[in-house]
Amino acid sequence: MNKQNNKIALITGANKGLGKEIGRQLGLLGYTVILTSRDIKAGSEASEELVALGCNALSVQLDVTNPKDIAKLSSYLKTKFGKLDVLVNNAGISLEWDGEPTNSDKVRRTLEVNLIAPFAITESLVPLLSLSEDARVINHSSMLGSISSAETNWEHVSTFMTVGYSTSKAGLNMLTLIQSKTLESKKIAVASAHPGWVKTDLGTQEAPMEVEEGASTVVKLVTVARDQFPHGQLIHQGERIPW
Ligand SMILES: NC(=O)c1ccc[n+]([C@@H]2O[C@H](COP(=O)([O-])OP(=O)(O)OC[C@H]3O[C@@H](n4cnc5c(N)ncnc54)[C@H](OP(=O)(O)O)[C@@H]3O)[C@@H](O)[C@H]2O)c1
Repeated sequence: MNKQNNKIALITGANKGLGKEIGRQLGLLGYTVILTSRDIKAGSEASEELVALGCNALSVQLDVTNPKDIAKLSSYLKTKFGKLDVLVNNAGISLEWDGEPTNSDKVRRTLEVNLIAPFAITESLVPLLSLSEDARVINHSSMLGSISSAETNWEHVSTFMTVGYSTSKAGLNMLTLIQSKTLESKKIAVASAHPGWVKTDLGTQEAPMEVEEGASTVVKLVTVARDQFPHGQLIHQGERIPW
């Protein structure tokens, strides 16, 4: 077992991809990691994998769009740990890169997972986060939600710009800014992370980055000294990305 640091970190959508890798890296740094997943079997397999590496990892079932799951999660954390130090709103979907035209159903479902769910989960966990000495919320966003990049670099990014995904991440960035201000009085620090274009089911195998490197942006935001935390900003590899 790695040396524990008494901090509890919860990552949504952590049965695979960047979420699982963030869990692995934080687990190896001594955080107790709670991997949530909508499929409990996939979540258990992921947490068993991390436990075998020496991490203190647990899995909890959570469909991020299900209010009952969110309520259950909050009472489970309250009973088991009595606080939460780190929340990574990582679960995300992209339904529009299949070559078919998008439609309002795809846009609505994407907004539900990528934007409404992070809002609902954070709201529900604020009472537990406010009991931490150093609470942090990281919203896993994307450069594809950067309005200024879309405006200035359209020819480079247009292939990847879809209504549901990009507006969900632009909205998530605004949520980050709002929460960083409104949760300041509770000493909860909030930032958005862009991992890069990473090889995962969502990023596809065409992506240039491996998950280890992709996860490092979130891990740095979780571990950076409190006085250097970039409150209310969108960050990639330690650098600010314009809104
Ligand atoms: N990969 C990239 O290049 C890239 C770039 C920019 C931003 N991001 C962001 O990084 C985050 C992680 O993406 P990834 O690349 O690791 O994708 P991924 O491998 O497809 O993983 C996505 C995760 O989200 C979960 N999820 C989806 N809908 C859910 C729901 N309703 N409830 C609970 N979990 C749900 C998935 O669970 P299931 O296994 O059950 O589907 C999976 O665990 C996303 O927010 C994504 O937008 C990724």
